[in-house]
Amino acid sequence: MGEYRVGLNLKVVAVNGSPRMEKGATNRILAPFIEGLKNGGASVELFHLEKMKIRPCLGELKCWRETPGECFYKDDMQDIYEALRKADVLVIATPVYVPLPGVIQDFLNRIVPLLEPVLELRNGRTRAKMRNNVNISKFVLVSTSGWWELGNFDRVVHIVEELAETSSVEFAGSLLRPHARMMLELPEEAQEIFDATTEAGYQLVTNGNITKQILEEISKPLISEEEYWARR
Ligand SMILES: Cc1cc2nc3c(=O)[nH]c(=O)nc-3n(C[C@H](O)[C@H](O)[C@H](O)COP(=O)(O)O)c2cc1C
Repeated sequence: MGEYRVGLNLKVVAVNGSPRMEKGATNRILAPFIEGLKNGGASVELFHLEKMKIRPCLGELKCWRETPGECFYKDDMQDIYEALRKADVLVIATPVYVPLPGVIQDFLNRIVPLLEPVLELRNGRTRAKMRNNVNISKFVLVSTSGWWELGNFDRVVHIVEELAETSSVEFAGSLLRPHARMMLELPEEAQEIFDATTEAGYQLVTNGNITKQILEEISKPLISEEEYWARR
């Protein structure tokens, strides 16, 4: 795992898998988070995956066997590889799409060239680690969903937690925004959420972690469950 350099010069790569890109709810949470990261002194490179040509992994594992660390598909993922090799933090932003949009799944599969093909057993599970020329030491998840309850994010959180374990990278937390449409419909009430999201970015850069209190503030209900169902 790369060494985490708190504060200035921290490099963050964010990928947003929302097909609605800049105008989507996911970006409405990702943007203040990025603002906070920059306030803390980080540089941030953002990729909207939907704009890019990222082919699904073909499963040949040439990146492990024949051309170590290199994917033979010379598509737009090559730009992301270049950024990822220099990054300290990877932010994966995605809407919940039963559970993921296809482009995020393709992106996650295409991370494999960055992993050493050396597997080991840890606590009964097969794990790998990032290659020595990859500096990433933390993953963060940013996600929005349509439905009211937080449990609806469980599968997405689990996927990113598992990827972090498998890559031997620290999972630095999940910024989860349920019933995301309400945040757009009630912008005044949502302002505290956006402020907490900016604070989360700042904390990550300056402290290396995000407090539980801030994560809970980001996820707090904007309306009651009864009201949610009454509005549907
Ligand atoms: C194909 C599809 C599948 C979805 N699946 C779920 C789901 O399983 N759970 C949920 O809460 N919301 C689901 N949603 C709603 C989105 O997660 C929600 O509207 C999200 O905020 C959209 O983010 P975006 O505007 O950035 O794309 C789904 C939406 C679509 C289009």
